[in-house]
Order: sequence, then C-alpha cells, then structure tokens
Amino acid sequence: MRVMRVIVHASDVDVVLSGIERGDQTLYESGMWDVGIAEADLLRLERNAGSAGVVVEKLLDEFVLVIRETRRQDVLDQFFASIAPRYAVVTQRDRNRDCVEALTFGLRQFAALSDGEQLVDFGCGDGVVVETSAGLRNRVVGIERLSEMSVIARRAGLHVVQTQRDLPDPIGGCISSYVLHLGPQLDELLDIWKRLAPGRGLAANFHKGVGFTRVRSALVAHGGVATVRDLRSDRFDHGKLVVFVRK
Ligand SMILES: C[S@@+](CC[C@H](N)C(=O)[O-])C[C@H]1O[C@@H](n2cnc3c(N)ncnc32)[C@H](O)[C@@H]1O
Repeated sequence: MRVMRVIVHASDVDVVLSGIERGDQTLYESGMWDVGIAEADLLRLERNAGSAGVVVEKLLDEFVLVIRETRRQDVLDQFFASIAPRYAVVTQRDRNRDCVEALTFGLRQFAALSDGEQLVDFGCGDGVVVETSAGLRNRVVGIERLSEMSVIARRAGLHVVQTQRDLPDPIGGCISSYVLHLGPQLDELLDIWKRLAPGRGLAANFHKGVGFTRVRSALVAHGGVATVRDLRSDRFDHGKLVVFVRK
C-alpha cells in the first residue's frame, strides 16, 4: 500500500479525514497536519472533494494539500511560507532554473527583451532567477507576496518588492515560473501587463496546462494579446509554456 503525504489544515481535519485511517501524525508548521494517507483513500477523497467543499492540490511532486475552497489562497500561503527555507531542496532546482531560462529566451526571441532592461519575475519565490542567465543579463526585480520567500530571495541578491506599486518603470518584460497554475488573483499581474509597451511580453508556464485559458482571457480583456507564442524546453515538461505579446 503506497502512503502519500497529505497536509491538511488543522481546523479542517475532522471534516476531511473522517473515515480515513490516519498514519503517524506530526503537527506540521503553521497549524497544518502532515499525515499519511493510502493512495486509494486519496482517490476517494479527490472523487468526493466537490461535494465536501474542498479542493485537493498536488504540489511540488511530494505534497497533497486538502483545502476548503473558501480558504484556498490562505492555506497555499501558509504552505509556501512553511516550506520556504527548504523550497530549493524539495523542488527540482534544475527544473525551475530551466523554466526561467526558457521563459526569458522566449521574451528575447518574441517580445523585444534586450540585455540590461528591467525584467519582472512575478511570484519569484526564493529567487531562483538569480541562478540563471536572466540574473546576469537583465536587471531583475522579483515580486512576491510572502515575506518568508522574499527574505531568502534578497539574501540571494535579488531585488524584491511586495506589490506592483513598487516596480520600476519602464518594464522590458515579465516572467512567471510555476505560479499561474496556482490560480492567483490576477489584479497585480494585470497591472504589470498594462504597463508593458506594445510588442513587449509576459512569458509564463502553466503546469499541466492549468490556468492558461483563464489568464489568456484576462489579458485579452485588459489591453489585448497580439500573439501567443508557444515555447519549449528540450529538458523538462513545464506544461504549457508561452509568451503573450502585448498589442
Ligand atoms: C511554486 S513557487 C514558484 C517560485 C519561483 N517562481 C520558481 O520558479 O521557483 C510559487 C510562488 O508563487 C507565489 N504565489 C502564490 N500565490 C500567489 C499569488 N496569488 N500572487 C503572487 N504570487 C503568488 C508563492 O508565494 C510562491 O513563492
């Protein structure tokens, strides 16, 4: 029997885990429970999630989060905050670096990004971008909602701001690596999009294709998309990898 790790917000445990045998329990950080769950039980949980008012999120290849729909962003924030110091080791670092490389390559090829220009990294996490050629060729500014992540990114040498109001002007382009499948509120991203000059672009990946249609519709509604260019990596499958070029 394969047992997976499931993280459940403590206050949701009774609802979500009723009828499911718990493995060894340890209190995870930030009031979350880290419990073992048999794969068959997880499948059952996923099947019944909608009617139970919960969403089941598989994250970073290792974690499964069971979240009440109404508290999704809040619990995602708690998860990423608690994982921040270990983010670089629990993720496949090479994969994230490769994604950032592919995105910035796409901006240079299709959206007029030149060396030395300001590049925004939306949802920069712990600053993986500084480990890529983008960190050398462009002035990069990260935008990140979690201070637990920004602290680490700043230590790595990245300039990080918390809201789009603090971004420089003009912006040469924007990347977003492994963020938009999480279904963030799009206000801040749209604000960045509106500031891009015609011909400039937003390059992003959509893990397993999730979120692409939602983001494209929002960009079309706010100033338009001239073209969507598909990108690819020879090394990893990053889901749907694209550059949206601004009209
Ligand atoms: C999977 S990490 C990706 C980090 C980095 N871009 C990388 O490729 O390693 C997702 C990041 O998105 C951030 N994030 C989550 N929800 C967000 C939102 N609504 N707006 C902006 N960033 C968000 C998280 O705090 C986290 O740092």
